[in-house]
Amino acid sequence: MSTLVLPRILESGPGSLSRLGSVAGQAGISRALIITDATMIQLGYVERALSALSEAGVAAAVFDGTEPEPTETSIIAGLDCLKSGVEGAEFDGLIAVGGGSAIDSAKALSILAVHGGRMRDYKVPRIVDELGLPVIAVPTTAGTGSEATKVAVITDPESDEKMLCMGLGYMPFGAVLDPELTYSLPKRVTADTGIDAITHAMEAYVSRKANPFSDQQALAALRLMGPNIRRVFEDPQNADAREAMLLGSTLAGIAFSNASVALVHGMSRPIGAFFHVPHGLSNAMLLPEITAWSLPSAQTRYAQCARAMGWAADGTSDAVANDILLEELKMLNADLGVPTPSGFGIEEARWRQLRPLMAEQALASGSPGNNPRIPTADEIVELYDRVWA
Ligand SMILES: [Fe+2]
Repeated sequence: MSTLVLPRILESGPGSLSRLGSVAGQAGISRALIITDATMIQLGYVERALSALSEAGVAAAVFDGTEPEPTETSIIAGLDCLKSGVEGAEFDGLIAVGGGSAIDSAKALSILAVHGGRMRDYKVPRIVDELGLPVIAVPTTAGTGSEATKVAVITDPESDEKMLCMGLGYMPFGAVLDPELTYSLPKRVTADTGIDAITHAMEAYVSRKANPFSDQQALAALRLMGPNIRRVFEDPQNADAREAMLLGSTLAGIAFSNASVALVHGMSRPIGAFFHVPHGLSNAMLLPEITAWSLPSAQTRYAQCARAMGWAADGTSDAVANDILLEELKMLNADLGVPTPSGFGIEEARWRQLRPLMAEQALASGSPGNNPRIPTADEIVELYDRVWA
C-alpha cells in the first residue's frame, strides 16, 4: 500500500507563466501576496507575474524579503506583511516566485498565517495535514522540486537546526513550470540545484519507502536529468536542456515527496545549517561517499539509476553499473566544480567537533531510516570523516 499526495494543477512549458492568473483563479485566490526576493524583481519575473495576475483580475502585492535557506526570522517578517492585507482586505493566497527557498517560505507562511505558533511547533515528527492558505509555486530553479512536495525546510535561528516540516498542508495547490524562468540562473546555482534534484530522484528510488508510483517518477526524472545536467551548466541558454531539467526536478520532487529522501539529505541538512553551505552543494559533497557506503544494500536499484541516467548501457551487469555510478558521481562533482568541505572554507576542527551533533540531528530528521543501509550515530560520524578526507 502507498499513499500519494500531489498538487492539483501543474502548468508546464515555455511561456506558461502567462497562465498564472488562471491558476490563481482556480485556487480561489483573488488577493495574492507574492513571496519572492530582490533578484526575482530585478530579473523582471515579478513584474511578469503581477501582469499575469492583473489580467485575470487578481489583486496582488509583493513581499521580497525571503532569504536563501530561509530562517524563521524571515518568515516572521513575511507574516507581518501578510497581516497588512491588500486594498483593505486580507490576502487569500500566496504565490512563490523563486527557488526552493521562496517556495518553502510561502509554505511556512501559509501554515503560520492560519494556524499560528512558531515553526518549531510544526517540525517532524509532527505531521501537518491541516490546510493553510493556498500556495501556487513558480519555481525559477530546477532543483528542490518544492513546487510538488509536501515538504518544507526552515532553519531555527536559535538552534541553527534545519527543521524538516512535512504534511499535506505543505503541498502547493498548483505550480507553473516555465523553463524560460531558469535561463538566467547563475552557473553555480544551476549545478547545485541540479545535483539536488538528481539526489532526490536517486534517494527516492533506493528509499525503503519507494513504491511503484514513486519509482516511475524517479526513473523518468533520472532519464531527463542524467544527460542534461552538464548541458545546462555548459550552455545555460539551451532551451531543451533547461526544459528537461525543470521537468526532471519536478518529477524528482514528486518521487521523493511520496517515497522520502534518505541518508544524503539527512546528513546534508546539518552541514547546511552549521556551515551555511547551499543545500544542493552539501548534497553534492556527500553523494559519492554516501552512495558508496549504501550501495551494498541496494545494488540492483543503484545500477538502475546509472542506466536511467544514461551513464551505464542497458544490459550492463549490476556490478559494472554500480562501479560506473560511483565513478560518474565523482566526475560530475569535478565537472561542475563542487568543492570539498575544506575547499568550501570549512574549518576542520569545527567540522570534527560538530560531527556528533550533526549525526544526532541527521537521525532525528528520520531520513537516514529510509536509507537502504541504515547507519548508527557512530557510523554517521565516521561517514562525516570520510567525506572530509
Ligand atoms: Fe534536496
